[in-house]
Amino acid sequence: MQVCFQIQRQSSGSAPQLEQFLIEVDPRITILECLNHIKWEQDGSLAFRKNCRNTICGSCAIRINGRADLACKQTLQNELDLMAHAQRLTGTTATEKSLSECPKIEISPLQNFPVIKDLVVEMKSFWENLEQVDPFVSTASRAITDRESLQTPAARAKLNQVGNCILCGACYSECNAKAVSSDFVGPHALAKAYRVLADSRTEDAQERLQKMSADLSGVWGCTRCFNCNSACPMDVAPLDQITRIKTMALANPVNPELRAVRHREVMIDLVAESGWIDERQFGLRVLGNHFRDVKGLMGLIPLGLRMLWRRKFPFTFHPSEGTPVFQSLIRALRRQK
Ligand code: SF4
Ligand code: SF4
Ligand code: FES
Repeated sequence: MQVCFQIQRQSSGSAPQLEQFLIEVDPRITILECLNHIKWEQDGSLAFRKNCRNTICGSCAIRINGRADLACKQTLQNELDLMAHAQRLTGTTATEKSLSECPKIEISPLQNFPVIKDLVVEMKSFWENLEQVDPFVSTASRAITDRESLQTPAARAKLNQVGNCILCGACYSECNAKAVSSDFVGPHALAKAYRVLADSRTEDAQERLQKMSADLSGVWGCTRCFNCNSACPMDVAPLDQITRIKTMALANPVNPELRAVRHREVMIDLVAESGWIDERQFGLRVLGNHFRDVKGLMGLIPLGLRMLWRRKFPFTFHPSEGTPVFQSLIRALRRQK
């Protein structure tokens, strides 16, 4: 079948441009094989990374039709099915017939990385962020003893999901927190941080937990957008691992004054008080911290004034009729801590 590839091409420091390539291929081949076809038959200067061709090395991660994926994992047919499904969902006018006649596949480099050339990105920050979480069990634990450092099958099973990470960068590319904060270490690093925390051989778990939850560079910098879970081709579910670290950290917060920690505590307190969240108090308690955070409090003034001006400031608040039920649920959950 004929397929049109629209590839974003760029050299370091220059503006990106789109280039189209029409190829005749079997839809059962992978997107990576399509790129090979273009490179070998039409334009040898097209740059992209590849190595194992078998979803092991992680080097072929790119964006396919606007989402990060492994080029060697996704077949052309799968991509066409996804496009047809998206068209059905959005009710766009293109028919499946025209799609099958000459579908257009958009290819671009991963986001949140500088481009070196075409689809090849500079991954220095990705590796530096990984280094920040000390991605290995402690040196003391790794010291050679007279016997192996054995784990039970149950202890090892806890590492299976996170152990699947191939460091491809797909999650990092789609991470909203990373897009706005260079300090945030990224989903790959936090998934790895959980892998070490959950390892029964780790001896410095408490210090690691403190480091990962002390400020917004760690777990509290995550905005819970779920993009990393959707993007990960190995089902590592970085957000799930981040949530696990957060749950551990909330049991004994290193920095209870951190706004992200107060955000969670205040939300639960307000629901426990009245069944739902009183937005007026929420802002004051989280940002103002009971008048202790003067800067945060001052930051609320423009928003408060805008709300008043647009008559969106609620002067009254009615507790939920279900308050006693919520209160007993929260009491029961707190007893389980
Ligand atoms: S859920 Fe958090 S870590 Fe994952 S992509 Fe979104 S902001 Fe990044
Ligand atoms: S967590 Fe998934 S998406 Fe992120 S680097 Fe690892 S394998 Fe790739
Ligand atoms: S080439 Fe190795 S994961 Fe795609």
